[in-house]
Amino acid sequence: MAAYEDIVNLALRRSLFYPASEIYANAPAGMYDYGPFGAAIRRKIADQWRKHLVQKENFLEIDGALIMPEDVFKASGHLTNFNDPVTQCKKCNTIHRADKLLEETTKKPYKEAMPVQELTQGLREHNLKCPKCKGELMDVKQFNMMVKADVGVGQKASCYLRPESCQTIFTNWDRLVKTMRVKLPKGVSQIGKVFRNEISPRQTLIRQVEFNQSESEVFFDPQEVNTIEHWEEVKDYKLRIQKADSNKTEDITADKLVKDKLVSGKLIAYYLARTQQLFEKLGIPVQNMRFRQLDDTERAFYAKEAYDFEVQTSLGWMELAANNYRTDYDLKGHANISKKDLNHTREDGSKFIPHIWEISIGFDRAFYAILEHSYNKQKERTWLSLPPTLAPIMAGIFPLLSNKPELVKKAEEVFAELQDCYDVQYDATGSIGKRYARMDEIGVPWCITIDFDSIKNEDVTIRARDSTAQKRIKIKDLRDTLYQLITGKISL
Ligand code: GLY
Repeated sequence: MAAYEDIVNLALRRSLFYPASEIYANAPAGMYDYGPFGAAIRRKIADQWRKHLVQKENFLEIDGALIMPEDVFKASGHLTNFNDPVTQCKKCNTIHRADKLLEETTKKPYKEAMPVQELTQGLREHNLKCPKCKGELMDVKQFNMMVKADVGVGQKASCYLRPESCQTIFTNWDRLVKTMRVKLPKGVSQIGKVFRNEISPRQTLIRQVEFNQSESEVFFDPQEVNTIEHWEEVKDYKLRIQKADSNKTEDITADKLVKDKLVSGKLIAYYLARTQQLFEKLGIPVQNMRFRQLDDTERAFYAKEAYDFEVQTSLGWMELAANNYRTDYDLKGHANISKKDLNHTREDGSKFIPHIWEISIGFDRAFYAILEHSYNKQKERTWLSLPPTLAPIMAGIFPLLSNKPELVKKAEEVFAELQDCYDVQYDATGSIGKRYARMDEIGVPWCITIDFDSIKNEDVTIRARDSTAQKRIKIKDLRDTLYQLITGKISL
C-alpha cells in the first residue's frame, strides 16, 4: 500500500488528477479535475459498478439534473438538517469544523450529529484555540452545506445543486413506476456529480466541494424485507462487520447477519454482500475492508439503520460507501410537498409507501483507495497493479526503434488491428525502457513490441506489467490472447 504522498505525486506527474482551475491562484479549494488517464480509470471503475451492481441486479439507471428546486430539499429535509457544526475564530475569522477539530486534537470520537452545546463544551474543556492564529473560538453553530444555484433572469427560481444524487431518483420514481413495468423490489441507480459546501476541503479527492457519487436506491415493500431473489448465492458469503459497540472486525455470513438481527432482513444483507463483492472485484483485499455499523450519533438524519463501508488506507480507515436503510422517509417527504400520491397497492388492496435501501458510493474516494492498493514501487520501478478491467489502456504498442520505417509500419498495422477491440495506445517516443516505465506507472497491464524478428516471423513480444515476463505471440493470435489475458484464462 502506498503513502498518500506517493499517490498525489504520481497523480500530478501523470496528470491523473490535479486542482481545478489551477492556473488561477484564487481558485477555491475542494475541486479537482481528472486528466486523460485518471478520467479513463474512473470511467472503468464506473463500468464495473454498472456491470456488477446495476445490470446484474437488474436495476434501472437514470441520469438526472444537477440543479433542483428548493421544494425538493424541503421535502428531503436537507434545508433544515444537512448541517455541519462550525466554530469561527474571533481573531482571524477562519471557520473550522468543530467535530473534526475536537477529534483531531483530543483523539476522542466527536461526531457531527452531537448537539452544538456538547461540542462547544468540548472546545472549552480542552481549551482549544484557532489552529491558524491561536485566537479565541466562538460557540459552535450549525452551518447548512447546500450550494445555492438560483436560475432564471429577473424573477429567479430558488434552486440548489443536489447534495446527493438520490434525490433525482426519488423525484423520478413515480414516472418510472408508471412507464418501466416496475415490480418491487426494484433498484434505481445513478452516477454523477454532487455538491456540498464543505467547510474544510482537504486531502485532494477525499474531502471535496464537488464530487462524484454513484447511488442505488432499492425500493421495497417493508413486509417483504426478507424476500430477495438470488439469496442463496450470498447466504454463506462472509461479510466483514464491525458492530457499533465493538472495535474489532468479524467475519459474519449474510445469513447470520439476519439471524442475529444485525440487519432488518435478507434484502439488506444481500445488498451488503453485493457491495463487498464489488470492491473485491475492484482490487481491494478483503482483509482491508469492513462494514462499520453506525450508532445513533453517527447515522444521517434519514437513516434508521446504517453501515459505512470502509477501506484501510495510509490515511486510516476511509469511508467509501454509505449503506442506509432510509425507510419511507424520502417518498413520504416528497409526497407531502409535491402533493403526488406515491403509494403502492398490494394485491390485498392495502397501500404503502415503499421503503428504501441505499448503496451510496463516493466515487473519487473509491478511485483514490484503488490507486493506493494497486501502487507498487521497487527500486526505480513504479507500477499500478490495477485489475485489467480498470486499466486506462489495455496495451501499449511499440515499434522497437522509431527510426526504422519497416518497424513503424508493422507496429501501426498491429495497432490498427487491435484498436477496433481494445483500448490500445501507440507509442514510439523515447527508449523502450522509458516507454515501459510510462505504461507501468499508469497501470497498463501489457506492452506489445514489434522488433526485426516480427517482420520475418509475423510475431511480437508481449510483456506483463506486474512480473515483467515476456512472451512471443503470433500477430494473428494477438486479439484472442489479449481476450484470454483480460479474462484471466491465461497469464504470461
Ligand atoms: N445519499 C447518501 C449520501 O449522500 O451520503
